[in-house]
Amino acid sequence: MCGIVGYIGKKEAWPVLIKGLERLEYRGYDSAGIALLREGAFSVYKKKGRVSELSKLVKNKNENELSGGVGIAHTRWATHGVPSDVNAHPHLSNGGDIVIVHNGIIENYLSIKKILISKGYKFKSDTDTEVLANLIEDVKNNAKVNIEEAVRLALTEVVGAYAIIVLSKDEPDTMVVAKVGSPAVIGVGKNEFFVASDATPIVEHTKKVIYLEDGEIATIKRNPKNKKLILKIKTIDNKVKNLYVHTLKTKINELEKGGFPHFMLKEIFDQPESLRNTIRGRIVLEKGNVKFGGLEKFKDELKRLNRLTIVGMGTARFTGLIGEYAFEELARIPTKVEYGSEFTYRDIAEPSHTGLIAISQSGETADTLNSIKKAKKEKMLTFGIVNVIGSSIAREVDAGIYNHVGPETAVASTKASSSQVLLQIMLAIYLGRMRGLSKAKGQEILKEIEKLPALVEIILKNAKQIEKIAKKYKNSDNFFFLGRKYNAGTAMEGALKLKECSYIHAEGCNSTELKHGPISLIEKSFPSLVIAPKDSLYEKNKSSIEEIKARGGPVIALTTFGNKELENIADDVIYIPETLEILTPILAFVPMQLLAYYISVERGNDVDKPRNLAKSVTVE
Ligand code: G6P
Repeated sequence: MCGIVGYIGKKEAWPVLIKGLERLEYRGYDSAGIALLREGAFSVYKKKGRVSELSKLVKNKNENELSGGVGIAHTRWATHGVPSDVNAHPHLSNGGDIVIVHNGIIENYLSIKKILISKGYKFKSDTDTEVLANLIEDVKNNAKVNIEEAVRLALTEVVGAYAIIVLSKDEPDTMVVAKVGSPAVIGVGKNEFFVASDATPIVEHTKKVIYLEDGEIATIKRNPKNKKLILKIKTIDNKVKNLYVHTLKTKINELEKGGFPHFMLKEIFDQPESLRNTIRGRIVLEKGNVKFGGLEKFKDELKRLNRLTIVGMGTARFTGLIGEYAFEELARIPTKVEYGSEFTYRDIAEPSHTGLIAISQSGETADTLNSIKKAKKEKMLTFGIVNVIGSSIAREVDAGIYNHVGPETAVASTKASSSQVLLQIMLAIYLGRMRGLSKAKGQEILKEIEKLPALVEIILKNAKQIEKIAKKYKNSDNFFFLGRKYNAGTAMEGALKLKECSYIHAEGCNSTELKHGPISLIEKSFPSLVIAPKDSLYEKNKSSIEEIKARGGPVIALTTFGNKELENIADDVIYIPETLEILTPILAFVPMQLLAYYISVERGNDVDKPRNLAKSVTVE
């Protein structure tokens, strides 16, 4: 996730752009940049760090260097290449003709890059975006077309997701915007236009907006005769589209949370998209396999691994408890899960041929980071499953896989956690395919993985029902979360979500353990959420529900659509769509996140910043 802004009109562009970036900083904040088109040339300023760093840099410039009414800007959340001045957007093409900002991922950028290199193009950054800038320049020069047509033709060659704003120095009165899969909004002012990833940078200038649809290209061009700016929209396959202008009614703070009252709820609802981004470009269905760019170099070492240790803290470790089942089942590699902090301070019996998988959203958790340093001393191969690109853990590990879910702002992890589970299952398929997992089995799971975003959408449509359940249980002092096998870790994560946001004491427990102690706590004011999808252990979970009910404990059952029988036993039933057993945790996460969210809101808590907690804990 990144933020893009563009301005063309009668105002000075740079203050509009910088203010716009500040409003979009919630979308990413590892580096920022601005390009201004003045007197037939681009001035480009880029800076690693937050928008305030870029703002300082720009404000120190001479006013003459900045004046002009056309410009584009970007606040970055790295996907290709570490956060740095060079990798920051905007990106110029080799000839300096094209400048571009981009939010999204170009999946086939490496193959396009290869072709461009063979034609003599040079690249300064590691980004997919610089490839697109040069592709557009190449098309423009070869086809001898204007910038609008060059963008259109170039995009017919591109696979991936993008919202882009493009300028050409040869056509200083033109701005081109295009979108597939990432958002782009155009604000319509009085002979001026604003472009942004969402309406937050626009709303203070105009309430009239056009939401660009997937596959559309908008061109804003000045009529040389009457100097009026005209907006036209066509599709990438060259069909002219009508303009639909909407009038904004929402307030700015609602807009930056995508219209949601809290980041946590927004991030829960981001999950169809964040799971899509986790999967994007990684599934090779015809081979029943997965592709991870960051692991390619380590294929031989990966084949030799005969044990895995997963480390993480908090949510990350709980997702590891789910991953453990996947690695053992699909890759047949003995796996265990540890707190990063414990791994660091104890003797490791058999480090050779053991791989360490460090899971961390922030990539900065000290407990996890230190365990990687220890593993490297023991000569173990280390991997990261990390969301923040260029973070300490991402740099410390030998090889890595990024979540690509965009910034997670709420302290309670939601969209990063579902992605962590998914990546472990995908990694288990990848390691499994090196060790005898059949192509057919790989294909079967991958096909179901591709359906997950749509299944999460179905769950989210039932959020109101979960809100109702939350109201019923909001005054509880205690809660059990129970599940088995893959969903034992899910139960622990469910309990953590509830306790960290609502301050209700919650325990996550393998339901098989219930009768060996915890059941003595059950009474009528002690509810349990039992994860009981229709899977291989359904009957066992059903027995647990019956045991709890027999002792007067209220039960919320989480089961598969169509399985009505629990409605006769449990007090409340939440349904998730049918999927493969191994994928149920990803779906089960969502209602549990919603339950924790709604209960916490009901209790009047600051859900995005629960007391005593920090998003990333950089001390031991
Ligand atoms: C903190 C947060 C947890 C998070 C844990 C690990 O304790 O409060 O929500 O799960 O850190 O964070 P990481 O960034 O390493 O995933």
